[in-house]
Amino acid sequence: MKMKLCQTCISIFFFLLIGLLTSQSALDYKAFEKIRVHIVNGFQSETLQVHCKSKENDLGDRNIPVNQEFSWKFHINIWRSTLFFCDTRWSRGHKRFDAFAVRYALMDYCNGNCVWKANETAIFLLDNRNQTYIELHGWE
Ligand SMILES: *[C@@H]1O[C@H](CO)[C@@H](O)[C@H](O)[C@H]1NC(C)=O
Ligand SMILES: *[C@@H]1O[C@H](CO)[C@@H](O)[C@H](O)[C@H]1NC(C)=O
Repeated sequence: MKMKLCQTCISIFFFLLIGLLTSQSALDYKAFEKIRVHIVNGFQSETLQVHCKSKENDLGDRNIPVNQEFSWKFHINIWRSTLFFCDTRWSRGHKRFDAFAVRYALMDYCNGNCVWKANETAIFLLDNRNQTYIELHGWE
C-alpha cells in the first residue's frame, strides 16, 4: 500500500514537472527560452553608461560608445520570474527601467530579442514585428 502510494506520488511529480517544462503560458513563452537583450547607444556624441542587474546576476558598469551596444543572453527561469533592470545615464539624464520581464507587451515586442535604444529623446524598444522603435521611457 505504502509502495503504491509512493509510485503514484512519483508519477504525479513527473507529470507536473513535464507539464511545467513544456507548458505554453498565455504569453506563449516556455521556461528556459533563450532571450538576448541589447542596449544600443543611439546618441549623436554621448557615451551611454549602463548598469544592468537581475536578482542573480550583476552585469557591472558598462560604457557604451556611440553606435555601439552592450548585450547579454540568458534563459527565462522555470517560474518565469526572470527580471533584468538597468540604470542608464548620460550627461543630461538618467533612467532606471526593466530591460526584461515576462510581460505581455515586452515579450510581444521582443520576440526573443529585446533591442533597447537610448538617444537624446528617450529610451525606445524595437518592435520586432515591424522594426519600429516604440518610445517607452523618458529621461529623468
Ligand atoms: C531617437 O530615436 C527615435 C527612434 O528611432 C527617433 O525617432 C528620434 O528622432 C531619435 N532622436 C534623436 C534626437 O535622434
Ligand atoms: C508596429 O506594430 C505595433 C503593434 O502591432 C503597432 O502598435 C505600431 O503602430 C506599428 N508601427 C508601425 C509603424 O506600423
